Amino acid sequence: MANPVIAGSGEHMIEASGVSAAIAAGAGAAVVKSANENPAAARQLGHTDYAMFDSSWRQVPWDGNPPAGTSLFNRSGLQPLGLEKWIEQTADLVAVNDQPVIPSVIPGDLALLSGLARRVVADTRCTAFELNIGAPHGAEAVAGALSLERDEQRIAAIVADVRSVLEVPLWVKITGQSDGVPQMAAAAFGAGADAVTLITRHMAMLPDLNTQAPAMGTVVAYGGGWALPITCRWLALTRHLVGPEKTLIGTHGARTGSDVARMMLAGASAVQMTSAVFTNGYGVLTDAVEDLAAYLGSRGETASDIVGRAADRLTGYTDQAFDADAWRRFVPEV
Ligand SMILES: Cc1cc2nc3c(=O)[nH]c(=O)nc-3n(C[C@H](O)[C@H](O)[C@H](O)COP(=O)(O)O)c2cc1C
Repeated sequence: MANPVIAGSGEHMIEASGVSAAIAAGAGAAVVKSANENPAAARQLGHTDYAMFDSSWRQVPWDGNPPAGTSLFNRSGLQPLGLEKWIEQTADLVAVNDQPVIPSVIPGDLALLSGLARRVVADTRCTAFELNIGAPHGAEAVAGALSLERDEQRIAAIVADVRSVLEVPLWVKITGQSDGVPQMAAAAFGAGADAVTLITRHMAMLPDLNTQAPAMGTVVAYGGGWALPITCRWLALTRHLVGPEKTLIGTHGARTGSDVARMMLAGASAVQMTSAVFTNGYGVLTDAVEDLAAYLGSRGETASDIVGRAADRLTGYTDQAFDADAWRRFVPEV
């Protein structure tokens, strides 16, 4: 990879033109829209919807220029091209792009998963493969369409199964909707993952004051810049558990090159950007690559120099100076 900014998987990575636009914009790699063998997972994309809300929960127009602090709410499903076309298109993208194009599978039928992974890697000739076992929409999907895993033993078994049939690096993307993110990551590494991508988005529900119904009618996946510190905490705690030699990839909340640097300081070797590109366009990737380079250049540092630096400086509450009256300076005057 030419740089640590990865265009993450999403709807703008369904068509070949979107993936190539991400690479042309300067991304160090691009993950294509996820697939599996189950037509119900692709069909779920037909039930999707997308909306942006500002920090006062007012819906903002989908005009490519949302105000800072905007959050994205959406349903999603898997790629709608059909598995054969998706494999063929991904193979072409791998062949023509000068940066890695990475196929992504969200498991449907676990009994078919390793066969599917082997076939995808062989037919696309990709140089890395991402297995997303943390898709937030998993719980809303038709049974067997999208598997969402939290149990460490299941994760170890699934990752080992896929690892045993692959000869390329295996990235495993995991949910943040658990208190056991570091333990899930450790289970994935223990079973042979080469990198763990963390964390997938939160699920949420936003009541509308006029209709008094949920905005968009359902629970939805929820992302935005607000998620960055949550992701950074999990990156840091995961680095502490699995050790600095393990490769972590950040996702959920990076909107700028500065955010990429923040996730790297928390322990990520690379960072996926998805919502910001989906809502603001591919130029977000160009800006992020340039801003990250400017930050590193201004400090005379390389990307790998900064990985985990803030995580390694994380202290505990009781390491802080003791002042019995500190809280008094913060309460409002009576
Ligand atoms: C509309 C949309 C569709 C997505 N589809 C996928 C997908 O098919 N596979 C996947 O691994 N992640 C998918 N994601 C998750 C993103 O790749 C990313 O992990 C998540 O949005 C958090 O990062 P962000 O804050 O940069 O958006 C999707 C995200 C969005 C917003």
